[in-house]
Amino acid sequence: MARPDRGASARPPLKWAGSKRQLADEIVSRLPATIGTYYEPFAGSAAVFFALAAAGRVRRAVLSDTNPELVATYRALQRDVEGVLAHLEQHAAAHGEEHFYEVRALEPRGLSLTERGARLIYLNRTCFNGLYRVNASGAFNVPFGRYKNPRIYDPERLRAAARLLKGVTLREEDFERACAAAQPGDAVYLDPPYLPISETAYFSSYAREKFGRAEHERLAAAFRGLTTRRVAAVLSNSDTPETRRLYTGLEYASVGVTRTIHADASRRGAVSELLVLARRAARRGR
Ligand SMILES: C[S@@+](CC[C@H](N)C(=O)[O-])C[C@H]1O[C@@H](n2cnc3c(N)ncnc32)[C@H](O)[C@@H]1O
Repeated sequence: MARPDRGASARPPLKWAGSKRQLADEIVSRLPATIGTYYEPFAGSAAVFFALAAAGRVRRAVLSDTNPELVATYRALQRDVEGVLAHLEQHAAAHGEEHFYEVRALEPRGLSLTERGARLIYLNRTCFNGLYRVNASGAFNVPFGRYKNPRIYDPERLRAAARLLKGVTLREEDFERACAAAQPGDAVYLDPPYLPISETAYFSSYAREKFGRAEHERLAAAFRGLTTRRVAAVLSNSDTPETRRLYTGLEYASVGVTRTIHADASRRGAVSELLVLARRAARRGR
């Protein structure tokens, strides 16, 4: 797994809100040159993992997330990418608004692993803005995306992702559990649902995302735990006074990114994000 996979693309197989594709190089450059086990506890589309793995910098990896469909999809790609591709071919042939809503209505736990993975990839490529959102009963409820000609799947990209996922441990679990397993010599990249940039945004997103102030406090404590245990770690979040307060005393860098996935078009555009490093800051208040 440590050798660069020349045929492998570093591109993640899914679109994801908050994907770190743009920042992957910035993040990778802040991780140690040699990593025992690489942990990505808020995996999402795992942009940083795919960049690191394609560069041959991952020996062992643990990808985890609390989203069961996401974890099932990585498992499906890992175990039977050709089976996933066969189901995607059928979705592509039947694609249209009616088919989208039929697939969306399927209960994923009643499907085989390959059907389940193909369902999420199909919905991800064809729903509105590639978003992932569920209703109160946990059912995916993003509407049909009005794309003229969506690229429903790219076999080479999915096969490349499947090669990079070989041997990776995949877990559906909370970030705190993943952090607790990391040892000195390992590296962790943490990319939580962000603290909103404004207070109004904070309250709406708190109710919807269920990752509010208390969760960010719990995450900051876990991150400080990694620092104390001398585990290398990088965390990203929106660059707000609240984030800076949560990580006071630690080293951080502010980096600019362009946001393309946001339901409100006025909030797409350039924003700053903070990368916090699990090393004690030489100086305070930067
Ligand atoms: C900002 S996204 C990560 C994006 C990812 N870095 C990428 O490149 O696509 C945050 C992820 O955290 C997951 N999540 C939310 N709460 C969590 C928790 N308590 N523990 C672990 N994962 C969680 C969400 O399902 C989502 O996939």
